[in-house]
Amino acid sequence: MNKAVIPCGGLGTRFLPITKAIPKELLPIVDVPVISHIIDECVDSGLDQILVIISPNKEIIKDYFKPNEMLYDKLMRAGKSDLVKELELTRSKAEINFITQTEALGSAHAVSLAKDFTGNEPFCLALGDDLTVNKYPVAKQLIDAYEETGSTIIGVQRCDGDDIVKYGVADVSKSAGRFNLLNGIVEKPPLDALPSRLACYGRYILCDIYDYIQRIGKGKGGEYQLTDALMLQCKESKVYAYEFEGKRYDMGDKFGSLQASIELSLERKDFGEELKKYIKDLAARI
Ligand code: UTP
Repeated sequence: MNKAVIPCGGLGTRFLPITKAIPKELLPIVDVPVISHIIDECVDSGLDQILVIISPNKEIIKDYFKPNEMLYDKLMRAGKSDLVKELELTRSKAEINFITQTEALGSAHAVSLAKDFTGNEPFCLALGDDLTVNKYPVAKQLIDAYEETGSTIIGVQRCDGDDIVKYGVADVSKSAGRFNLLNGIVEKPPLDALPSRLACYGRYILCDIYDYIQRIGKGKGGEYQLTDALMLQCKESKVYAYEFEGKRYDMGDKFGSLQASIELSLERKDFGEELKKYIKDLAARI
């Protein structure tokens, strides 16, 4: 498997007002946009053919991955060729393609646009506003899980907090290790009706998904929802919910984005220590 699809065509209403002008997928963790981290995860997982689904007003995502000749020229003349190489690193490791979803008709509609790109091969779907961090990249964990089962895999994680009600929650049976057989997904269930504590986060390995997308109608919010297609698929064939290892951030959510910025910055070589000291000082004052 070498293909990944990253949908970025949504409206980003949870992150207004900035998303009026800047796609949430391009919001930075200090200096690197979310989507670049996600593409790095894909590349580190052996996925070097990438399709990014954008909306008509998100062309700026394309620009980010284009070479900036004028800037590179200046940097080269200033003897900073290493920096130019670094700026081109992601593009040198992966082929990044783009397709436009003309209207935000939902996650399943976005995925359906990837059909020509993926053909009938299984592929990794990485939502453009979900960041996962782990030495053993989450996309790779799911690819390896797929190698064992040969069927659709959705990435899940135990969520003990009340914020589980914001997610799709897996209804599962027959657990073995990190694998759970999926019976269904309940979207945003109330706390007193949770089918499990396994929240569905934005990483999937999808096989034969287009057959199921074709058969669904508009669902929640009047949109074509991937969850509805997966619901059909798990009724008719085996789908697994795989409990991946690692930290996951909801980058479509303001607080999630802030958490990622702080936690990832603490790991930085250039100012991680300075930030740690700052946070300790700040904590003593508040
Ligand atoms: P979300 O549902 O989190 O994105 O979809 P959204 O619709 O932008 O969210 P709100 O408005 O803040 O609630 C998850 C991913 O799927 C993409 C989004 O861009 C996001 O990265 N998506 C969503 C599409 O590509 N197309 C769509 O029609 C909907």
